[in-house]
Amino acid sequence: MKPDILVIWPNRPEQMAMLDAAYTLHRLDHAADPKALLAEVSDQITAVVTTGGKGLDAEMIRQLPNLQIVASSGVGYDTIDIAACTERGIVVTNTPDVLTDDVADTAIMLLLAARRQLVQADRYVRSGEWGRKGPYPLLSAMRGKRLGIVGLGRIGQAIAARAAPMGCEIAYTGRTKKPESAYSFEPDLKSLAHWSDILVVATSGGAGTQGLIGADIISALGPKGTLINIARGSVVDEKAMIAALSSGDLGSAGLDVYCNEPDIDPQFRQLKNTVLYPHHASGTIETRNAMAQLVVDNLAAFFQDQPVLTPVN
Ligand code: 8YV
Repeated sequence: MKPDILVIWPNRPEQMAMLDAAYTLHRLDHAADPKALLAEVSDQITAVVTTGGKGLDAEMIRQLPNLQIVASSGVGYDTIDIAACTERGIVVTNTPDVLTDDVADTAIMLLLAARRQLVQADRYVRSGEWGRKGPYPLLSAMRGKRLGIVGLGRIGQAIAARAAPMGCEIAYTGRTKKPESAYSFEPDLKSLAHWSDILVVATSGGAGTQGLIGADIISALGPKGTLINIARGSVVDEKAMIAALSSGDLGSAGLDVYCNEPDIDPQFRQLKNTVLYPHHASGTIETRNAMAQLVVDNLAAFFQDQPVLTPVN
């Protein structure tokens, strides 16, 4: 008997074919009437395949009485009710490590694009303004700038490892000091924001970090400062950030994540000092393949009574 899997979000085609061969898949992602599909198969389902974006809430967990494992594609799991899973003994797996490089690359891309005004300068060239108005205004160098990282986990460390050879001075804050890290630890977020020219948000999402980057932190970063967020939209007080970017109280921002994805606050469209990326930091073929494979491998381990590779709970 093949285990029954509820697919909430599809993986890459090759890995979907692997899942299809080993399990009976019920495609909620394709269902014309998801409610009807759930009513029909909910008792059979022992595994869920989902993603950081779609997650799995308490209500859905309740509807799946025989659920044993949730295999999510994505390192973040703030949209999965981990407490509800743990209470029922449901294993949750995510996909750390395999996306670290791409996400760190994206942070640096957004940082350079925001501070060197890549999008505006591109427009300056295309529109012919360069020919009409002359050289583009001078900007500010990366070398010698102070880069503060909020959350020196795997991704935060990979960002630091890229920014250090660019000549940035690096400090970080987080729940705990990392004794193995050579970067200076600043326990107070506001002091870190004051010190920083660039503040990079690389912490996990969820209730514990909701609104962590509030108006006071944004103001401490200041009119010459740059805010980069590759974590979760919820970590930043988005209204306060938009207001500060509009008034010039915050210099610039590079964002991959937002409060309301994909229908982001329309005010973002008006911000000239902001570079927007569509929550796509892990969006390369190589990384998405590796994430999908980890989902397949976690499920295989679980159903062969082996320890899962990347457990969350
Ligand atoms: C993806 C992410 O957008 O890993 C995460 O936490 O936010 C991203 O990698 C997502 O999970 C797509 O699978």
